[in-house]
Amino acid sequence: MSSRLTFPDGFLWGAAASGPQTEGFFNKPHKSIMDHWYDIQPDDFFNQVGPDITCDFIHHYEEDFALMKRLGFNSYRTSIQWTRLIRDLETGEPDPSGVAFYRNVIQAAEKNGIELIFNLHHFDLPEELLERYGGWTSRHVVELYVKYARTAFSLFGNDVHRWVTFNEPMVIAEAGYLYGFHWPKYRGRGKDAVQVIYHLNLASALAIQAYRSMKLPGTIGIILNLTPAYPRSDSLEDLAASAFAEDFCNRFFLMPAVHGVFPERLIRTLKQDGVLFEESSEDAAILRQNTVDFLGLNYYHPRRVKARETRLDTAAWVPDRYFEDYEMPDRRINPYRGWEIYPKAVYDIAMAVKQEYRNIPWYLSENGMGVEGEERFIDTSGRIKDDYRIAFYEEHLEWLHRAIEEGSSCFGFHAWTAIDCWSWNNAFKNRYGFAALDLGTGKRTVKQSGDWFKAVSEQNGFIPSGSN
Ligand code: BG6
Repeated sequence: MSSRLTFPDGFLWGAAASGPQTEGFFNKPHKSIMDHWYDIQPDDFFNQVGPDITCDFIHHYEEDFALMKRLGFNSYRTSIQWTRLIRDLETGEPDPSGVAFYRNVIQAAEKNGIELIFNLHHFDLPEELLERYGGWTSRHVVELYVKYARTAFSLFGNDVHRWVTFNEPMVIAEAGYLYGFHWPKYRGRGKDAVQVIYHLNLASALAIQAYRSMKLPGTIGIILNLTPAYPRSDSLEDLAASAFAEDFCNRFFLMPAVHGVFPERLIRTLKQDGVLFEESSEDAAILRQNTVDFLGLNYYHPRRVKARETRLDTAAWVPDRYFEDYEMPDRRINPYRGWEIYPKAVYDIAMAVKQEYRNIPWYLSENGMGVEGEERFIDTSGRIKDDYRIAFYEEHLEWLHRAIEEGSSCFGFHAWTAIDCWSWNNAFKNRYGFAALDLGTGKRTVKQSGDWFKAVSEQNGFIPSGSN
């Protein structure tokens, strides 16, 4: 007997990407912090490959949407670049060539029967706003983001019906202010990180408020990276460490997004430690009244934590004073990215959404496996035989399916990504796509996983390898 897994009707099948990782720099009126970072520190990027060309989507979008159709996609998420759409960052006035480009993108997606999901921000703050105002630590930047959002909604809100305010806003704080792996590469600035997190939550709520006030025919959500915090043991110390990591890393965005309030226990700790964010009196009502319609949840790897055992290397306040990463022996690792592979977390996330976040509609908005040197796996027909990627996706989808059977209101699955794309630091080192990108010629070639995905999407499910 076959054990076919069938997903709900209307399930979204597709992939995610972002403007800065696919479009290429051409004709933008502004530089993002990532463009600027590459200009001044190209050695930070694998093989010194920067964000100037990426997938050259700006010249290939028509063929790329046709390719996505061929991959069986019914949906695709990308981001508008603030630095491309907006000419005047203070007023939110659009740039005509940016407007024309995104209109063309919308049309090409529609022509190929692909529902577009537009995200407004994928780590790509305009560099001038960091220079002039200190970036997301500034409330003025929140106001400018809302002007940009309004412009985007009024231009494209009748054509695009699913919007996202931010992709993985926690990464902006972690990577830019705590651990220094994205520009501005600050380390140990915990108090600033807390203010950034607050402003990103507020910016999301204000954009949602603007969207709803415009009475557009769609829905709006946020995309969060969920790394469930699993404690090393059941000791009280390890449990406390994982509870703090969960509060800071996940619930600091999840709670305001879905419930309109911040996690109480975390707020108490931040207050006690003297690092609570600054807020205005009207903010609490704005956050309460403008929660999301849906969540996108990106999942790649879990977070394993233990009570702190080593001394912190900073006297400044950082969230790590309450936990430490734990390297679980025998964990499965993707060696190219160094991330643990733990598919069951998808089920745990889905159940947490069901139980703690009022079973709000959500989709798995990114999941994927980056592999270096995939040309090793080219078969005699010239195609990359990435059966490891198929196995990776099947395992995650099996857990997702189980959660749906148990009542989780998941409405889709997006892989990272359609065509190998550029990435922060790693550039093109690790490849994630269903189609390979030849960096010399720009040629796209479907991998084995691309054919597998098409079949999954067409059948709205699959028979897991190993069952018969
Ligand atoms: C996600 C981001 O967290 O992970 C993407 O939304 C990113 O922008 C993806 O590219 C994969 O991570 P990386 O660092 O391997 O490119």
